Amino acid sequence: MEASFQSLSLLSCFLLLIISLIYLSSVLLTPNRHRKLPPSPPSLPIIGHLHLLKPPLHRTLRRLSQSLGPIFSLRFGSRLVVVVSSPSVVEECFTKNDVVLANRPMFLSGKYFAYNYTSVVATPYGDHWRNQRRLMSLEIFSASRLNGSSPVRQAEIKLVLLNLCCKNSFDSFSKVELKSKFSHLSFNIVMRMITGFTANTKEAEEFRDLVREAFKLSDVANPGDFIPALRWIDFGGYEKKLQRIHGKMDAFLQGLIDEHRRDKSNDSMIDHLLLLQESQPEYYTDEIIKGLLMAIILAGTDTSAVTMEWAMTLLVNHPHVLEKARAELDAYVGQDCLIDESDLSKLNYLKAIILETFRLFPAAPLLVPRTPSSDCTIGGFDVPRDTILLVNAWAIHRDPKVWDDPTSFNPERFKNGEAIGHMLMPFGMGRRVCPGSSLAQRVVGLGIGSLIQCFEWERVSEEAVDLSEGKGLTMPKLEPLEVTCKARDIMKKILPK
Ligand code: HEM
Repeated sequence: MEASFQSLSLLSCFLLLIISLIYLSSVLLTPNRHRKLPPSPPSLPIIGHLHLLKPPLHRTLRRLSQSLGPIFSLRFGSRLVVVVSSPSVVEECFTKNDVVLANRPMFLSGKYFAYNYTSVVATPYGDHWRNQRRLMSLEIFSASRLNGSSPVRQAEIKLVLLNLCCKNSFDSFSKVELKSKFSHLSFNIVMRMITGFTANTKEAEEFRDLVREAFKLSDVANPGDFIPALRWIDFGGYEKKLQRIHGKMDAFLQGLIDEHRRDKSNDSMIDHLLLLQESQPEYYTDEIIKGLLMAIILAGTDTSAVTMEWAMTLLVNHPHVLEKARAELDAYVGQDCLIDESDLSKLNYLKAIILETFRLFPAAPLLVPRTPSSDCTIGGFDVPRDTILLVNAWAIHRDPKVWDDPTSFNPERFKNGEAIGHMLMPFGMGRRVCPGSSLAQRVVGLGIGSLIQCFEWERVSEEAVDLSEGKGLTMPKLEPLEVTCKARDIMKKILPK
């Protein structure tokens, strides 16, 4: 017994020695010592600054930028991370350095959710990435495609309105939970846009829940991505969780593809991709098609849902803003027919509310990480190849040097529903800017506009709804939003007779 205990301690010492040697060699042999790197706080051996990263990460990084400046560096284990938090430095990143910064770091989550880094969100900048962006644009994001799919969104939003309206909802306020409704809505919209059908099977429900889990796991601060030893031992069972979730998601997507392969009578994005597969089978493999679908579903579901939840939270906390938005809708759309997407351009105050929500609660507060494909300089500092670049959009959106009274919810700051001369970047910037921004603005605009037009909204209590943020790549509300609502007369015209 004693002998085996001794051999165990010997083994631990040996392992510790190896890890320390790896760390020392990575520090001593690294060429970074002769470079002018952005300022950095003192770090610990092996873990670097990982111990400083308390959630929510965007808040911790803003605190650090207040002492270290608009560009600073950290070590996440063995990886150098540069964080930028000022408009001028961000501008430099996405103008002078846009091409060099057009790559994404290869996190373990990308091995699974981006099909071995082949799908658009994680694939390196180049011809394959360009082709995926072109396909997405042709199939869903072009103005003509978006106009064509507008009835899908209208129909899905109508289902939410009907679902909110129960027998007594014209007479009194009743309590509803909105988070799950927004999540269903944005998932159903995206699914119908890519498959042509409503996703109301049990498998689709499960898939939607997995999307949320996937987002929780895709946080930028997974220690296994930065400390190789932790990855070898699969610290916290992280890779196993990724494998499990990916396995289920993959089976669902494969099922969709097989279904569309059997029944060729449809005209959806999947059908178009399968036609391309027939002519170029070696390029449009099932894996590539699943990767593209996964990217669209993952990137397009939670982001819009979270934004609608924050927008409604802000509105019930500011009843005078809600009142003003309702007056605008009554003046420009009325109470005879439901708002549709063509009305959105006239509704400047609604647009301002949505911009103000994007400012205060950007769904991707640190955007999506980039990495330089070669050494570059940013803000006068050296940024070596393979550094992880994080843009703290959340901090810039609340910077008092950029915005007056930055923490208050004040849609009036956006004259005519436009963000002129300000650094508002909820969808990122440069070549890898979000391709789904027009779709997202239509979904959020129509979703929030319809809720305001068709219902009166109040908080469940006198107290303001709590604004704390939960964990995850998108910035969810910590507590799901509960409010009360009462139907307006227009709902009588919408209810089936
Ligand atoms: C409120 C809604 C949304 C927000 C706030 C948002 C935000 C973002 C951000 C910040 C990025 C990274 C941009 C960069 O690196 O500069 C991104 C990328 C992306 N978004 Fe969105 N997004 C939203 C909705 C959507 C929707 C609805 C879709 C598709 C249906 C979508 C698809 C994508 C894709 C595919 C990428 C990866 C682009 C690439 O790497 O080339 N997004 N999004």
